[in-house]
Amino acid sequence: MPDTQQRSDSQLRNLIRTEIAGHDVQQLAAEFGTPVYVYDAATIAQRIADLAQFDVVRYAQKACSNLAIIDLVRRNGALVDSVSAGEIRRALAAGYSPQGEPPPIVYTADIFDRASLDLVVQHDVHVNCGSIDMIEQLGERAPGRNITLRINPGFGHGHSQKTNTGGESSKHGIWHERLGLACGRAEYRGLSVTGVHVHIGSGTDMEHLAQVCGAVEKFATEVGRSVTSISAGGGLPIRYTEDDSSIDIAAYYALWDQTRNRLQDAFGHDVRLEIEPGRYISAESGYLVTEVRAVKQIGDRTFYLVDAGFNNLARPVMYGAYHPISMAPVGDPASRPLQEAVVGGPLCESGDIFTQREGGYVCTRTLPAAQVGDMLVIECAGAYGFAMSSNYNSKPLAAEVLLSDGHPHLIRRRQTFDDIIRGEQIPAHAAGGGK
Ligand code: LLP
Repeated sequence: MPDTQQRSDSQLRNLIRTEIAGHDVQQLAAEFGTPVYVYDAATIAQRIADLAQFDVVRYAQKACSNLAIIDLVRRNGALVDSVSAGEIRRALAAGYSPQGEPPPIVYTADIFDRASLDLVVQHDVHVNCGSIDMIEQLGERAPGRNITLRINPGFGHGHSQKTNTGGESSKHGIWHERLGLACGRAEYRGLSVTGVHVHIGSGTDMEHLAQVCGAVEKFATEVGRSVTSISAGGGLPIRYTEDDSSIDIAAYYALWDQTRNRLQDAFGHDVRLEIEPGRYISAESGYLVTEVRAVKQIGDRTFYLVDAGFNNLARPVMYGAYHPISMAPVGDPASRPLQEAVVGGPLCESGDIFTQREGGYVCTRTLPAAQVGDMLVIECAGAYGFAMSSNYNSKPLAAEVLLSDGHPHLIRRRQTFDDIIRGEQIPAHAAGGGK
């Protein structure tokens, strides 16, 4: 067999995925319909276990907040971060208790909307304050509590400018030069600052993450002996492409452990070390399965149009994010030659393309030749996939399925049309008019 033929045979094998964690993709699609998010529970359990050296793994549920996923995270020993009243309610519904030491649920935000302030006061949920106004508002309603401070260290980094959460262009956190003022306001309001938290961005890298330790050490020292916990925030990258490097967790932990030990020595008491990842825990567990509904030629390009769009997975259109795509074909995979194709969805908007670079530039991907009925599997979609989906074009939110204990479990049924229009109403005076 010539070399090029062998190369393309092995490339084809990599692009064919007939199973997810032992479950046949075509069968999953037949049972649950498409588009459908499929999550492998074992991957989530493994990712939490990878981080076991940290005292607390606090899952940033915004990445994937289905109740069954939060429950799975809880059963695997991780605690949870919530950024809204809705996310606090999800954590409670999934079985976390509101109070405890360490706090099972932490509300991290830059503001309280009125509902979230009411809820944290009512349930005594721990608050990680990202603004001085939050300190004032919580202190007024619930003096005597412990709080932590989310600090903007003056630098940040993310996989996209839109996910960089540090520096002067970011709205996040209490500006590092205002830490003294924040502590003064907390004291005045009768709140005790028991921890320091920094999150510089999502999808960052080791080089930038390593700089955070020094910043946290400096801020914790400035706050003083009331500090009993530090948080490294989230931001751990995952490998979306084979060229991405994987993060060395042991080395990362060692940096933080040294920081924590220095603080313990300085304070003369234990300091808890927390980490707050979202993507690292759920991204690789999730697959978006979507059916090819049309294959068309536009000029020299071949487009595979599938039944999922940016209403289901917004990362490509929002950030030009790359997701691996593989195929579960109808029939024999070996009969499919490779070709270059653009993969797009059903939405009435040109940006509805999964194979695009940041800036909206449409790219092609090498994929097996497709026909209607084939399934495409968009991989590494378990973080910020379903969680960022919408009803744009009046499309229903997809179904979600969890693979655990050898079975597929429906963990969210697909929305119906009635679900989509629930809560909408035509004013009484307009009813019956017109044609
Ligand atoms: N902690 C805080 C305070 C955060 O704001 C975030 C993410 C995390 C933890 C978790 O970050 P992770 O470990 O997942 O990188 N939609 C974007 C990501 C936005 C992240 C927002 N905050 C995306 O799809 O890439």
